[in-house]
Amino acid sequence: MSPAWSSVTWDVARAGGFIAYLLLTASVAIGLAVSLKFRSPNWPRWLTSDLHRFVTLVALVFTGIHTLAVAVDPFIGFTPAEVLVPMVSHYRPLWVALGIIAAYLLIAVYLSEYARPRIGYAWWRRFHYLSFVVFVLATLHGLGNGSDTRTPWAMAVYAGSLFVVGGLLALRLWPEDPRARRHPMVAALTVVGLLAASTWTINGPLQPGWNLIANNGHGSGAAPGVVSAVQGAGGTSGGGASGGQAGTSPFASPFQASMQGTLTQSSDGSSALLDASVGQGAHLRLVLDLAPGDDGGATITGSQLSLSAGTEVCQGQITGVRRDRIAASCSTAAGQAVNLQIQLQVAGDGSVTGSIAGSPA
Ligand code: HEM
Repeated sequence: MSPAWSSVTWDVARAGGFIAYLLLTASVAIGLAVSLKFRSPNWPRWLTSDLHRFVTLVALVFTGIHTLAVAVDPFIGFTPAEVLVPMVSHYRPLWVALGIIAAYLLIAVYLSEYARPRIGYAWWRRFHYLSFVVFVLATLHGLGNGSDTRTPWAMAVYAGSLFVVGGLLALRLWPEDPRARRHPMVAALTVVGLLAASTWTINGPLQPGWNLIANNGHGSGAAPGVVSAVQGAGGTSGGGASGGQAGTSPFASPFQASMQGTLTQSSDGSSALLDASVGQGAHLRLVLDLAPGDDGGATITGSQLSLSAGTEVCQGQITGVRRDRIAASCSTAAGQAVNLQIQLQVAGDGSVTGSIAGSPA
């Protein structure tokens, strides 16, 4: 894997996701503004309905770019089915599924415009309410999945979008004009939903251990049969799953497992040690040589990695670091080369949670 290519796909995936989300917010907001008749008779027609349709189309285009970028990103290593079918993903299955469902619904809502003459206005309008479901699913998908969720700017994007859509929705559900129809039940449900989503965000995605929970949302969080490659090598049976058969090197087939451990820094700050148990019985030891960075932080100048599973040890070094993700490569005494992808979350007290995935090079 070329680190430059991996960086491109990753940046395009993240930027594409946020642009798609902002355009989706704009589309829902313009739709609500149209229904609230925020419109001067002097405005041309394209400023409302046509703009609404156009922004939705561009949101779809960026959703496509975002999806394509995550599909080819070598770090995640998706198969086509994982990108297209909800809950098949080995990576954050539930949160990826919400994005896939949101994308399908968005396509359906967009295309329903063309079915309007056939199905009639009333049915089209009922179907169009699914746009709110798309917005809610996309918000939960971004919050639950995103590696940027915990940054202040990402939180500002989500909070700003919810504020704009929530504010317009409040005006729509609870019009100032007392003669207009009010919708107290829907308004109450929306407020409860917003409170529940805020509580979940604070206690879920904003917490350091979230990565582990997000990846474990669907069984082990790993693709079926691959966790056992590492777990089985550690002496456990692997629960009958395929992979990790006796006599086969645990590094000969792809694997993924969660890990837990500690990160400690030497007193002079020149090195750090990540010591973590991986799956059930495997072990990761990663020594980082550090030098002071220009921004006041530390730069990694060297590394020694050792992943042991049973009697086999894979030794190597880091090949790239991106945010909470580390790419590394190692090889066993028998000459089996393995590419590793490590995802880490480090808490203030130095405890580390995360996952490690590997595939034969
Ligand atoms: C309406 C459609 C969608 C919208 C608006 C959307 C938006 C987003 C946003 C805002 C993020 C957070 C990015 C970050 O924090 O850096 C994200 C992450 C992600 N999305 Fe989507 N998404 C959509 C559909 C999809 C689909 C169809 C897939 C297919 C697999 C997908 C896969 C992912 C993945 C894997 C991530 C994690 C990237 C990371 O860790 O940052 N998304 N998405």
